[in-house]
Amino acid sequence: MRTVDLILKKKQGKELSKEEINFFIDSIMDRSMPDYQISAFLMAVCFQGMTDLETSYLTEAMVKSGSFVDQSKLPKGVLDKHSTGGVGDKITLTLTPILAACGIPCLKLSGRALGHTGGTIDKLESIPGFNTDCQIDDMISQVKQINLAIGAQTKGLTPADGILYALRDVTGTVDNVSLIASSVISKKIASGAENIVLDVKCGNGAFMKEPQDAARLARLMVEIGKHLGRKVIAVITSMNEPLGRAVGNSLEVIEACEFLKGNCKDGEVYELTFELAILTLLQYGICADRETAHAHIEDLINSGKALDKFKELVKAQGGDAEALVDYSKLPTASKTVEVKAEKDGYVENIDAYKVALACKLLGAGREKKTDAIDLSVGVYLNKKSGERVNKGEVLYTIYSNNDAKTQQCKELCDEAYEIATGQPTKKPLIYEIVQ
Ligand code: URA
Repeated sequence: MRTVDLILKKKQGKELSKEEINFFIDSIMDRSMPDYQISAFLMAVCFQGMTDLETSYLTEAMVKSGSFVDQSKLPKGVLDKHSTGGVGDKITLTLTPILAACGIPCLKLSGRALGHTGGTIDKLESIPGFNTDCQIDDMISQVKQINLAIGAQTKGLTPADGILYALRDVTGTVDNVSLIASSVISKKIASGAENIVLDVKCGNGAFMKEPQDAARLARLMVEIGKHLGRKVIAVITSMNEPLGRAVGNSLEVIEACEFLKGNCKDGEVYELTFELAILTLLQYGICADRETAHAHIEDLINSGKALDKFKELVKAQGGDAEALVDYSKLPTASKTVEVKAEKDGYVENIDAYKVALACKLLGAGREKKTDAIDLSVGVYLNKKSGERVNKGEVLYTIYSNNDAKTQQCKELCDEAYEIATGQPTKKPLIYEIVQ
């Protein structure tokens, strides 16, 4: 088999066989396929697509590219959750402590910020001392003790994804349904997750811009996961506007803590955390119906058990749990700039992509995996879609360490905010549940 023939076959839109896809992954792993050929192949996939069968072969080949966790070593019913990437998405921090407090073992492998999207690992690293570079065996022991561990993707699991993802990021080939599905599901299979909860983002701040693409991605991931013997729920959610009010690493940790303390009773963080938690509690048979599940989650929050679980996680991974109460212990930006509304009206929309770029410009995100990031900076959206705003009221707040960047950030955020005269109709956050 010759690599160039695989590229040509895909370029012509033909379906690759299992042997050909295995050959592709093997050639990546033994380094016989140079980056330029891998990149050409990825671009051909982006233009021609892959069938569901090809995607399923690709996923299995990626799982086999490295070691995988022996499921018999894991607690029964272990769960992993994954978002396909968004702006202001702190749902891992709000959801997993609740599920763990309900008795569900959560072993979560997370990523860092890449492209314009944020990453859970960076958010957690804004908690002083928090270690995300964990060995999988240590994570398993921790899950057995406290039902929760969150760490960075370990090198031994799905190394083919590591190589492909880094190349996709710099060759404009991230946003393909088959490449995303195989990347996400291969990692979840390798980490031994029995139950997988997927948040498939859709909108201008997501990799999938169109609802039909997000729907195909969700269905494909659910099908492949089920075919490989896992229970999968996917929820397709809007990413046209940042999720919640905070965008930026330590700012998002604060918003997550406020939610877990019961100080956030509406908005997207509340709605999505509750929806994912309710679906999971029903799937595990912990609650019989939505109302009971809702009340159970409320109780965990109001009693402080959900926040206590987050503190346990932080302590178990070497972090300072006091920082979840005393926010001055988190990285804090030197400058806070409140930007006020110039006219009366209602917030019609806040462009998620522009806010993401503004935060990245401040230093909250990275261009390359190796770039250092500033965990203290970001934007807090004081006013969100549908809310009334009067001239002179604070629209949003910039947390920055650099005056020139603050100004550029303000220009982008001003463009992101759309103010209308009439009250806009509420846009749905949750589009569809696929299971
Ligand atoms: N998240 C992943 O892990 N992989 C992708 O390709 C996109 C989002």
